Amino acid sequence: MRMSQYFLPTLKENPAEAQIVSHRLMLRAGLVRQTSAGIYAWLPFGLRVLKNIERIVREEQDAAGAQEVLMPTIQSADLWRESGRYDAYGPEMLRIKDRHDREMLYGPTNEEMITVLFRDGVKSYRDLPKNLYHIQWKFRDEVRPRFGVMRGREFLMKDNYSFDIDRAGAIRSYNNMFVAYLRTFARMGLKAIPMRADTGPIGGDLSHEFIILAETGESAVFCHKGLVDKDILGRAIDYASDLQPIVNEWTSLYAATDEMHDKDAFEKIPEGERLAARGIEVGHIFNFGTKYSKPMNAVVAGPGGEQITVEMGSYGIGVSRLVGGIIEASHDSAGIVWPESVAPFRVAVVNLKPDDNVVMGACVKLYDTLQAKGVDLLHDDRDLRPGAKFADMDLIGTPWQVIVGPKGLAGGKVELKNRKTGVREELPIDQLAQRFGRWSASCWVSEP
Ligand SMILES: Nc1ncnc2c1ncn2[C@@H]1O[C@H](COP(=O)(O)OP(=O)(O)O)[C@@H](O)[C@H]1O
Ligand SMILES: [Mg+2]
Repeated sequence: MRMSQYFLPTLKENPAEAQIVSHRLMLRAGLVRQTSAGIYAWLPFGLRVLKNIERIVREEQDAAGAQEVLMPTIQSADLWRESGRYDAYGPEMLRIKDRHDREMLYGPTNEEMITVLFRDGVKSYRDLPKNLYHIQWKFRDEVRPRFGVMRGREFLMKDNYSFDIDRAGAIRSYNNMFVAYLRTFARMGLKAIPMRADTGPIGGDLSHEFIILAETGESAVFCHKGLVDKDILGRAIDYASDLQPIVNEWTSLYAATDEMHDKDAFEKIPEGERLAARGIEVGHIFNFGTKYSKPMNAVVAGPGGEQITVEMGSYGIGVSRLVGGIIEASHDSAGIVWPESVAPFRVAVVNLKPDDNVVMGACVKLYDTLQAKGVDLLHDDRDLRPGAKFADMDLIGTPWQVIVGPKGLAGGKVELKNRKTGVREELPIDQLAQRFGRWSASCWVSEP
């Protein structure tokens, strides 16, 4: 993408309405614009990040055996009357009427709808387990939408729902998602800690919130320090096997959100290993047994023809919130520092003299070579002085900057800058492409 033609409205000044760094940077780097309270339009740069997050979420859901569907945003009130939640949900639900005066709503979540789809489609215990997910916009009329996309009214969520024949099966489904979530967030460069959580209006008895630590987090959290650096990506996961040992490894160390905090248990941890901090909830998983399947009559025939009410769980990831969460976790005073797995572009070719044919020619050639290798990149061909380009580059946070100017080129060289470490190195222009091998899962694989 040529930056001179790209819709990337960056801001020099910090917008006054933004209280936290991710919100400021998302506005300044041209990722989003607010269109009304808590509702955002995604501009090209922000949309690329959102799509990258979606891709990782989707890959991990698929790997764990969940199947993608897409349910509508608009639901009928009758559906929610069946579960008894229509009145209980309260003012967070946006209720609307169609032209025939039928009561509708903009979905805040999809337990009811998926239960009906399941009930109509699955009749026998032989078809279980099932795990269905979608990535869809939700609307919750939050009292205080704030912090940009972190607490919006309209937001993108991955939500899925598991159906099992018994409690043991439901625990297996829960464990699969627990591990899939550990992997999902780790691939985004995040340290997300699963913490015992309150089940709230969704109901049920087993629930974990996945929390990333940040000073600007909305909730107080308490955990054992050992959880912060635990690694999941280094292991091979077989979702067909029993994942309880992995789940136990994470849950045997103390971690709880404010509502579930047990002061005595926390104080049993040696003082130097206690961590009391603030956190951002990026995911939340629940096992809620038959809370919806019972009133909504989601039953299957068991081996002896008997009717069995299915055991359910639901699992959410705040896809749009993650864009802000990742920035909270990865930025410096100059701007965003994107982890490579979610970066809108992985490389930016910074053309220091666009009006010089030699420099332009070299940049275009580099661009074409890298693009042919599947590397997403930007070419900063704007007619601006170098200082302004460098500042913009650091603000938008592209992981690698290739700086191309007449002086270097005279010696056949370009400069490669790593946004995260700030390390710059000069290298021969014809060796640059080799530095960017194939991109796989969460790292560059160098080419043979
Ligand atoms: N208002 C919101 N804006 C952005 N993301 C949200 C919002 N509410 C919830 N999410 C995201 O969706 C995930 C699942 O939501 P859920 O746990 O059902 O909501 P809540 O924690 O508000 O009860 C949360 O972990 C969070 O990441
Ligand atoms: Mg939650």
